[in-house]
Amino acid sequence: MSEKIKKIGILTSGGDAPGMNAAIRACVRTGAYLGMECVGIRRGYQGLLENDFIELKVEDVSGLASRGGTVLYTARSAEFATPEGVKKGAENLKAAGIQGLVAIGGDGTFRGAYDLSKEGVCVCCIPGTIDNDIACTSYTIGFDTACNTAMEAVDRIRDTMKSHERCSVVEVMGHRAGHLALNVGIAGGATGILIPETPVDLENHVLARIRKARDNGRTFLLFVVAEGAAKAEDVAACIRLQTGIETRVTVLGHVQRGGSPLVHDRIVATRMGYTAVKLLSEGVTGQVVCLNGDNYFWTPIEEAVKMKKGLDEEIAVILDAILTGC
Ligand code: F6P
Repeated sequence: MSEKIKKIGILTSGGDAPGMNAAIRACVRTGAYLGMECVGIRRGYQGLLENDFIELKVEDVSGLASRGGTVLYTARSAEFATPEGVKKGAENLKAAGIQGLVAIGGDGTFRGAYDLSKEGVCVCCIPGTIDNDIACTSYTIGFDTACNTAMEAVDRIRDTMKSHERCSVVEVMGHRAGHLALNVGIAGGATGILIPETPVDLENHVLARIRKARDNGRTFLLFVVAEGAAKAEDVAACIRLQTGIETRVTVLGHVQRGGSPLVHDRIVATRMGYTAVKLLSEGVTGQVVCLNGDNYFWTPIEEAVKMKKGLDEEIAVILDAILTGC
């Protein structure tokens, strides 16, 4: 697109994540700074199909950096997942004079953005999901806050479990990825961690660890299970049956997605929001804003949606060393 972008739309889609609001704020402030008009598209791609647009001025995003959730609301849209839906979305943007779009969310959001880009829409994506399962970036907005929320819960569970000399199985979110479980399990001092990236082996990953922990004098046990690996209730049932140990289950659920974002998420969201709008202003389109270490860069959405994120292999080795020490 040769014409300079004067009006951008911003949407959040898929599961919300702490820091999305900080990203929206950064987009609006950067847009205003660069002389652009900003429009919030409510309820993600579904809102795009319904022309659910609101004007966003600098004063509308004041105080947003500290707020959890997304003020633009979010949704998953079956209609947008069709070719007709995508066409309609692109037409609605055009009719509203929106020349560029910032889409904040996870891989589903990126696929939607990619489809729109094929219809000629200038779009840049920002990774926002507590799952941290986007391959092109080492970090997705919301992950750190969600890890901390889940870790605090695990710390509390550990206190009461210790008093009662019980076993706890805590199920955390993460969709099909184990990043959240792995980090929460390591930080929370788990006896064992079950993640979808490693085939679940209850004998080796749970029962053998329990025997070892007990041989080492442990009177309490704690397992962190990623929702994509196993159901906490099934793991607990196996422990009860095979060991007779009193075992309780906690499914943390949506508590992990709420709350005020921690500083890391606010900063990453702000920098990614700035970068996405700056890219659009410079005519760079079809990109996902990424982070690696302290380095912000961008990857074509087309490549991003094809990439698969693996686990840090070193962390798996470290994990084995740390857990074996139980
Ligand atoms: O992608 C974020 C996430 O919280 C996943 O970890 C989880 O599997 C999913 O969303 C839950 O979605 P919903 O809130 O629609 O049940």
